[in-house]
Amino acid sequence: MIISALKSSIPSDTRSPIHEDTIKNLLNLETEIWFEEDVGLGINSSNKVFENIGLKKHTREDCLKNGNLIITNQALNTEELKLIKPNSTILGMVNPFNNQELINQCSKLMINLVSMEFIPRITRAQKMDVLSSQANLAGYVAVIESAKNLSTALPMMMTAAGTLKPAKVFVIGVGVAGLQAIATAKRLGARVEAFDTRDVVEEQVNSLGAKFVKIDLGETGETDQGYAKELTNEQINKQKELQSKVCERSDIVITTAQLFGRPAPLLIDNNTIDKMMPGSVIFDMAVESGGNVEGSEVDNIVVRNGVKIIGISNLAAKVSSHASLALSNNYNNWITDFFDRDNSNINFDFDDEIIQSSVLVFNGEIKNQRFKE
Ligand code: NAI
Repeated sequence: MIISALKSSIPSDTRSPIHEDTIKNLLNLETEIWFEEDVGLGINSSNKVFENIGLKKHTREDCLKNGNLIITNQALNTEELKLIKPNSTILGMVNPFNNQELINQCSKLMINLVSMEFIPRITRAQKMDVLSSQANLAGYVAVIESAKNLSTALPMMMTAAGTLKPAKVFVIGVGVAGLQAIATAKRLGARVEAFDTRDVVEEQVNSLGAKFVKIDLGETGETDQGYAKELTNEQINKQKELQSKVCERSDIVITTAQLFGRPAPLLIDNNTIDKMMPGSVIFDMAVESGGNVEGSEVDNIVVRNGVKIIGISNLAAKVSSHASLALSNNYNNWITDFFDRDNSNINFDFDDEIIQSSVLVFNGEIKNQRFKE
């Protein structure tokens, strides 16, 4: 079997699907591993580094034409799909909610498609969970980027020249990214408050030394996969109104609220922004899925009444080496768990919960009900 690793096709996404420290796991499967020339450019790994470990350098076209298993951090376009042999498998972060065409084409061309975004939230699958591994790093980056845009320091400093107050950080949405944002801001010495509609996170917030903001929205809850349920319009309006006071007193507000497969809820509107202190920063981590903040723009800093509203795409790519190391581990774990050594191929066992959830197309059939219609 030939495994091909593709280079990122998006300039702002410098992550690689393979990493020199983790590729050994795949080599142990006694497969041939090809990589697209310069795959590691964004993580400072030259072609030579991978060649020295035993991988083979090829063009993108050859990787697509010959790979039985193609690993990629992005979706492929129709022209690229046409180069792939039938019964080959694409595995990666293929952004399926915005790519129905990819799913239809894979089905038509008999290419199997594994979406790592659909790894189920079960203990056994945590080592394959790309959303968590990348959200964790994104939460860290959001704090660092916010701090860079603030004109004050984060920790309290008692100096001969006077006492400098610690910055106040408010994190909205305490999933994987939010927890890391809280932990990072705390490590930098900020005073941190946080809110999430899932009240089960209150204990986690407190355990990080931050304060949980209590906002009673009535019945909220979470899905069986641990994702937040969508709020009603009345609940959203109540949340906006009650959290506005916390935004007003905060130097940095970081929003991470997402709803799996649906647009992110708008949680901070101009009304709130206009009450915030000039010089404060809002970091919208949900900017790519519709945005939690009114007026936020992808890859831009919008300034409104002195408040900076930051939106950055591919946040984890800002720490590309660590992001790639985690990603390649996630991919390797999926591959090694489902690799059949006797046949040197993937064993698509649809009795397995992870296969059921992550394989969107198999043998020409769209397997996931969401994408059938
Ligand atoms: P996510 O990226 O879908 O959303 C981020 C956060 O925003 C979530 O905590 C969500 O509750 C919150 N949110 C949604 N609407 C909101 C609103 N209106 N106001 C404030 N907050 C709002 O979620 P993520 O980070 O993927 O994780 C969700 C949960 O799943 C977490 O508890 C996480 O620990 C858990 N998880 C479990 C895994 C496992 O068991 N294998 C793997 C990954 C996550």
